[in-house]
Amino acid sequence: MASSGQPRTQWLGRWGFMLAATGSAVGLGNIWKFPYITGEYGGGAFVLVYLACILAVGVPVMMTEIAFGRRGRGSPIDAIRRVVNESGRSSAWSLIGWMAMLCGFMILSFYVVVAGWSFSYLWKMLTGGLAGSSVDDMAAVFGANNANPFILGGWSTLVAVLTMVIVGKGVQEGIEKNVSWMMPGLVLMLILLIIFGVFSGGFGEAVSFLFSFNAGSLSSEGMLAALGHAFFTLSLASGAILTYGSYLPKGASIGRTTISVAIADTVVALMAGLAIFPVIFANGMNPGEGPGLIFMSLPLAFQAMPMGTLFGILFFLMLSMAALTSSISMVEATVSWLCDNKGMTRKSASWATGIVLWLISTLAMLSFNLGADWTLAGKNFFDWLDYLTSRWMMPLGGLGTVVLAGFVLKSETFRDELGLAPLPYTLWLTMVRYVSPLGILVIFADALGLYQVSFAVHWPWLLAILLVMVAVGETLSPRLRQALRSR
Ligand code: PHE
Repeated sequence: MASSGQPRTQWLGRWGFMLAATGSAVGLGNIWKFPYITGEYGGGAFVLVYLACILAVGVPVMMTEIAFGRRGRGSPIDAIRRVVNESGRSSAWSLIGWMAMLCGFMILSFYVVVAGWSFSYLWKMLTGGLAGSSVDDMAAVFGANNANPFILGGWSTLVAVLTMVIVGKGVQEGIEKNVSWMMPGLVLMLILLIIFGVFSGGFGEAVSFLFSFNAGSLSSEGMLAALGHAFFTLSLASGAILTYGSYLPKGASIGRTTISVAIADTVVALMAGLAIFPVIFANGMNPGEGPGLIFMSLPLAFQAMPMGTLFGILFFLMLSMAALTSSISMVEATVSWLCDNKGMTRKSASWATGIVLWLISTLAMLSFNLGADWTLAGKNFFDWLDYLTSRWMMPLGGLGTVVLAGFVLKSETFRDELGLAPLPYTLWLTMVRYVSPLGILVIFADALGLYQVSFAVHWPWLLAILLVMVAVGETLSPRLRQALRSR
């Protein structure tokens, strides 16, 4: 029921959307970011909150975004505007789409720097540049790689160019083929690393670090990080999933697809944790090392395992590919918006976007060398991009999305579009109306210092608040909606 009137490109194969969405979701977020923030926030408790956020917030938001995309058949801005207009509501809601588009763009600006690290490590693996076997050697290699802005900038520029070339050609082409060999390959490499980890002497410690739940050990900052990461890792509130959803054919099941993508994404992240932390503990490294964590630890593992160089090459090759299938999804919203609204061809839209991207990503890249002291409140430019998007823009965008779908739109819209049986539909509605907003608000309240939440202590209260919300919401909202509709 696209109201745009014009036919829109759709995914090629039956699995097209599934592969593309998985390609978008699985990326540096799983293998680079998840382990390092888990390390920074102390392990098990962080992992548990993250898993809870995936289930209670991530999955419902993802379903909602795909439905928005398919219903509105356009970039986030256009799709949301069409869907709200269909319910007779104000186009101002498309601000959520503007924020998502900006957010995807900001993420890409620092993502290309990290993807650049991956490409440069692939190159080092190929040319023997990772020789050295101690923890200090690896830290020195990582430091040297960052110190020269021309070298680091060269790698991030390469990633930016590759991303824009692929996007210029259209993401449908090539993506399906690439993702279908790369994902299993990546999983295979992780299994290999985990097996290596089992014999490394650090495996037990890694398992207890990741999975032993110590309720007291998680800070407010950590809870917000876990929520933000649930959005980041599933590519939500950044235009990616919504725009991919706009190419989804009518018959496909949104619920089933979402669950599969979320499971694949979570499994890869947990596997990455199990692959990386044994190396960290076996070598006496600090799990809170920060963004360089995998680049300083994994080469040590490849160094020590039989045929390590070959596996190392394959690993960084697949990591770089995984990064690319994510990065192209971050600008798809912007490029499709430029094509639909400014009459640009895909190619010129990509180049125009690419130039702006290159300028901003260069500033992010400089945070590791020349601009290391250009800080504000202790954060450099790279940190700010990450912090603003993950901690604030994505959870806020997600909150807007669920409130819009749960309370503002006509209830037929999503019942139609999701095509769920009554029970799963009720479950989805309960999540978007009450559970996800409450989760997001509680974590925000905690992070802003309004109220210190401890789930272990406060769960009866939270449950009571949830029940009151349901009671009040269900009594008021049908009336509210009627009142507003008859204005
Ligand atoms: N989900 C991707 C990852 O985990 C990152 C991403 C964020 C992609 C936002 C698209 C949009 O690497």
